Amino acid sequence: MCGIVGYIGTQQAAPLLLEGLTRLEHRGYDSAGVAVLGGSGIKVAKKAGRVRDLTEGLPKRFTGQVGIGHTRWATHGPANDANAHPHTDEAQRVAVVHNGIIDNAAALRQQLTDDGVELTSDTDTEVLAHLVARSGADTLEGKVRDALAAIEGTYGVAVLHADFPDRIVVARNGSPLIIGVGEKEMHVASDLAALVRYTTTVAHLDDGELATLTAGGFTTYRQDLSTTHKLAEHVDVDPASYDAGEHDSFMHKEMQEQPAAADRVLRGRLDERFGTARLGGLNMDARETRAIRRVKILGCGSAYYVGQMGAALIEELARIPADAEAASEFRYRNPIIEPDTLYVAVSQSGETLDTLLAVQEIRRKGGRVIGLVNVVGSAIARECDGGIYLHAGPEVAVASTKALTNMFIGFSLLALQLGRVRDLSIADGKRLIAGLTRLPDQIQAILDREDELAEVARTLADAESLFFVGRVRGFPVAREGAQKFKEISYRHAEAYQTSELKHGPLALISEEVPTVALVPSDELTDRNVGALHEIAARGGPLVVITHEDVDLGDVAALRIDVPRNERELDPILLTVPLQLLAYHAALHLGHDIDKPRNLAKSVTVE
Ligand code: AGP
Repeated sequence: MCGIVGYIGTQQAAPLLLEGLTRLEHRGYDSAGVAVLGGSGIKVAKKAGRVRDLTEGLPKRFTGQVGIGHTRWATHGPANDANAHPHTDEAQRVAVVHNGIIDNAAALRQQLTDDGVELTSDTDTEVLAHLVARSGADTLEGKVRDALAAIEGTYGVAVLHADFPDRIVVARNGSPLIIGVGEKEMHVASDLAALVRYTTTVAHLDDGELATLTAGGFTTYRQDLSTTHKLAEHVDVDPASYDAGEHDSFMHKEMQEQPAAADRVLRGRLDERFGTARLGGLNMDARETRAIRRVKILGCGSAYYVGQMGAALIEELARIPADAEAASEFRYRNPIIEPDTLYVAVSQSGETLDTLLAVQEIRRKGGRVIGLVNVVGSAIARECDGGIYLHAGPEVAVASTKALTNMFIGFSLLALQLGRVRDLSIADGKRLIAGLTRLPDQIQAILDREDELAEVARTLADAESLFFVGRVRGFPVAREGAQKFKEISYRHAEAYQTSELKHGPLALISEEVPTVALVPSDELTDRNVGALHEIAARGGPLVVITHEDVDLGDVAALRIDVPRNERELDPILLTVPLQLLAYHAALHLGHDIDKPRNLAKSVTVE
């Protein structure tokens, strides 16, 4: 949420900062700003709207070889020019960009106002600029340290000061910051995406760490200014993976990447001889694995829904009671942490604050947590006792697709390993391995039918309200389908258990309210088809995602057949067409697919 960039070196900073902000825009896109430090002091340009609006309005002589920039997702105060970052002190000697939330901002704003400071924004961040300016320390490092000592909350922060033109000071507590090392220049950003075009030699700051960047290098230290001796390392990333290439959006690119991503998460993890999975990263031996009595999965949004799919897999394959819960609610009900429960945190970004705080709550109470995380080295990944990296590659679109698919596959591998140290037979293990191996091609087969799905999507796009329904394994699929649809089409899409329709929501069914129904070929097919009749009898338009062998009788429906796999793995093949329906509905409506209104890619606030 929100993006930070910074540059110090021998080139003009503004174009580099703007380019970096464009690459971070998925993290927040309601306003943007840059500050540069040149011969005449600090200059600031900031604007509500997109980075392109900022670029168009940038003053001609906006020069300086040091600078910081920000793209915002509003928390304190509306998205307007005044609330956009960078924020400055009254004399504009200090400029600050900040991600995170300062919890005691109201009290600090009051103190500053009482002292006669005229605040110019509604933000929490502005206090930081004033606190840095008012510190009596004689170094920028000391001034930043003093300011941070006064605030409570989370931050990734970058500070410029006109009296110290040879440096940028940055600090991290809860919001990521990565330093990028160049040739006689240094970069900083909240996300690798903004750095990879310039350098792949990077250092990740830890919570509680600060750094000073000069054109010649960087030093890292703690709040008491004692050094942390951090070294930069090479990261193996392909800068092209941060470009949409020939695709009209990242979401489209990322959907198309699913077969390759699925292949990667499976690579080296299938043990065909013993019909099990090889998940060394869990850091658990067979005895510890056998001792697990319960599995609790925690995630937010789509990660929570795929967690529900994962819980069903674990219960079916390993016969261990399992459930998923929204990580955002978990710690507020004072959860009982049991020693023989395996807690699983699932997150694409590895940054979602609600999930991270849930992990910290569990660990504080002595529980064991593993992570299913995509971003290597992210906060959640580092906080967990072990885990399964998802290897989906960078995911930029706000609407998660390939990471989600790999989460499902990650859960399948976990369920397989848990099952095979218990009662799952070797024959069943081999059956599932064969099924997992078929998944990439089957996903591709669905993606190949994009034109057909686009036509179906157009029939849904104009409905103000829709239902997505499924039963048991199909219900989390319906939840995820509704989530994706509402996220990018802005239509009201509600997920229901098919069995629950008749207990209330059937009252809403009409010609104007279509239903997307998941009807796999399984033990519930007949009942599901019965529910379709009830919807059709009330004039409700139907789109049915199903399997070739399912007989829908005389129900009038647009039918999409997906390939069959083992029934435990079917949910992910039922999910993929729902991504395409959401995407094409949003495209038809002319929405910005990758940057849906009010949202951001990583939710790093509570
Ligand atoms: C997915 O399409 C959503 N944008 C959102 O629900 C997301 O899954 C959620 O915020 C969790 O993100 P994470 O996987 O990075 O933790």
